Amino acid sequence: MQNWVPLFPEQASTFAWQVDLLYFYLIVVSIVFTIPIVAAIFFFAIKYRETEKFATPEEMHGSMVLETVWSIIPFIISMTIFLGGAIVFFNQFTPPDDAMEVYVVGKQWMWKLQHETGQREINELHIPVGRKVKLTMTTEDVLHDFFIPAFRTKADVVPGRYTYLWFEATKPGKYHLFCAEYCGLNHSGMGGYVYVMEQRDFDNWLSGSVSGQTPVEAGKDLFENKLGCASCHAGGPAQRGAKLEGIYNHDVKLVGGTTVKADDQYIRNSILNPTSQVVEGFQPIMPTFKGQVTEEQLNSLVAYIKSLTPNASTAAAEPASPANAATSANSAKPATNKPAEKPAANSNK
Ligand code: CUA
Repeated sequence: MQNWVPLFPEQASTFAWQVDLLYFYLIVVSIVFTIPIVAAIFFFAIKYRETEKFATPEEMHGSMVLETVWSIIPFIISMTIFLGGAIVFFNQFTPPDDAMEVYVVGKQWMWKLQHETGQREINELHIPVGRKVKLTMTTEDVLHDFFIPAFRTKADVVPGRYTYLWFEATKPGKYHLFCAEYCGLNHSGMGGYVYVMEQRDFDNWLSGSVSGQTPVEAGKDLFENKLGCASCHAGGPAQRGAKLEGIYNHDVKLVGGTTVKADDQYIRNSILNPTSQVVEGFQPIMPTFKGQVTEEQLNSLVAYIKSLTPNASTAAAEPASPANAATSANSAKPATNKPAEKPAANSNK
């Protein structure tokens, strides 16, 4: 299947062929309809050209067979397009639980990436082949769009919220990475490469790169020292701040009776607009941290708070990550943590 149409980029992810197949199907349908219609226009124009002034056309009564056929065939075609598109879409935008995570921050005009083991990259992403990778993305300034043509996937990167992308590369190589949303003067230069490596080469690359703090460690440092969150959110009884252990991807009751799911977006919003979603039983006394934390620091805080919930992190499936060892030691684990449970069995999406 490699480069079966020379105009297409290489197929290098598990869903590349699905996108191409769907696209190919659309082209075939367009051709199959366009050619007969254009031919018929010419044929009828000649056959029924005016031969006599003010001729009265022959009257025609409907044909049940004809009308049924031209209703059912387009119905089937449009439904196959819809179903094909929906299946590919749901597949692409439902990140699996057992993916390796990478944080992405867009900025005029570069991509800043960080692995969960701490390594940072700019305009480059190194990943192992045959491994699911999930990107958690946001931007410091304007809209961008993370696009890897060889993987046939892209997603907008939006200020003030998180968007996600996932893929599994199928063969080692160097693939173009683009910004696919006009974002100012150097938009066209906002790109780079994804390096897909054999697992062994990837492990070498990881160990050869300066890792610094992992996002979880950096988040813990911010939480306990730099921002002082721990003075209210330490978790014991009679704390001024809500308990954060075990909340990730669980429902949280708010003042006023509503309930929200404590996902990445909720945690981010609670840091930047704390009074907008106050947890039941607490006072709206937390100050905003807007302007005091960068997008990378927010990512780290989210990663840390996520790590306080056992099994919430997809990273739990990875024995090699030092971050997990560090975080499981300091999180008060409820007894619900079943070690034998497979990561795929998690209920969170
Ligand atoms: Cu960033 Cu275009």
